[in-house]
Amino acid sequence: MSIEEITATDLDPEQFVAEQVAAICDTVGDGLAINALSGGVDSSAVTMLGHRALGDRLKTYFIDNGLMRQDEPEQIAGLFAELGVHVEVLDAQDEFLDALAGITDPEEKREAVTQTFYKDVFGRLVRESGAKYLLQGTILTDVDETVAGIKRQHNVFEQLGIDPQEAFGYQIIEPLIQLRKDGVRRVAEALGLPESVYNKMPFPGPALAARVIGEATRERLALVRQVTAITEAELGDIDAFQYMAILHEDRVTGMREGQRDFGLQIEIRCWDSVDARTATPTRLPWEVLEKLSSRIVSEVPGVVSVTYNIATKPPSTMEVV
Ligand code: XMP
Repeated sequence: MSIEEITATDLDPEQFVAEQVAAICDTVGDGLAINALSGGVDSSAVTMLGHRALGDRLKTYFIDNGLMRQDEPEQIAGLFAELGVHVEVLDAQDEFLDALAGITDPEEKREAVTQTFYKDVFGRLVRESGAKYLLQGTILTDVDETVAGIKRQHNVFEQLGIDPQEAFGYQIIEPLIQLRKDGVRRVAEALGLPESVYNKMPFPGPALAARVIGEATRERLALVRQVTAITEAELGDIDAFQYMAILHEDRVTGMREGQRDFGLQIEIRCWDSVDARTATPTRLPWEVLEKLSSRIVSEVPGVVSVTYNIATKPPSTMEVV
């Protein structure tokens, strides 16, 4: 089934919101639905659309998978409480980290996150709540890249011939599937979300597991979480589509206090892009890179190398995993 794209220029956000609210009401009827909010612009827009359509008949969860950034669960639940939406934070850290243990292959890591999310955690929530529908913020770029076999976006099923009803026992509603990121931002603004949300930098579904090359262990995730916090603080004023820190698997020779230190490598990526389909590295000022690097090597134990990616997408992709 081909999906008809609505470009950001063709989009009438108010009309889109009205149509999608009506469509959700139609599909769910007087039943129950659930959704997972990660705090990104896609899942935030879906949460607001769903609450407009269903009110309390939509139950919204923040799944704490142990892969999120520093303080993210509390911050997001707090922000939505201010918007009048109750978000239940569910601690599923052990389940995700157990599922990721021992896995190094990128696609297998994505699959482990997907299965744990949809089958185990959501499967259980759906059974317990009696909901028949899962609302989620899949966008057209997720579908394109998955179907093209570039990168399995963890939220794409139907286009891969997977029937969620059969595989997981519930139906999935995807109100944003005709849009790309720039269109979703306009819809999110029309839904009354604050600028910190509608202009928020994207963050991948597999979260920090996509920022670790090789096994995503508790320790390696903690390290990349710390570097991510430093990177987001130092690049916070930069006008870029997305920036990130990545922990490499290979070690390199470094030195500390006159001793050899066979240490860790961090790669920084910062992208200029409109819709994530293509991207070029941002020409960051040298002083910004220098300060970032010196903070990382002095604050994060074991890191002896910081590199900046200068290749474009394609052939790169934005995330490394
Ligand atoms: P790539 O790495 O494919 O990323 O060039 C393009 C954009 O998509 C984000 N990304 C994801 N988003 N689920 C998502 O919702 C995913 O599995 C996923 N993988 C990548 C990435 O951060 C970038 O903005």
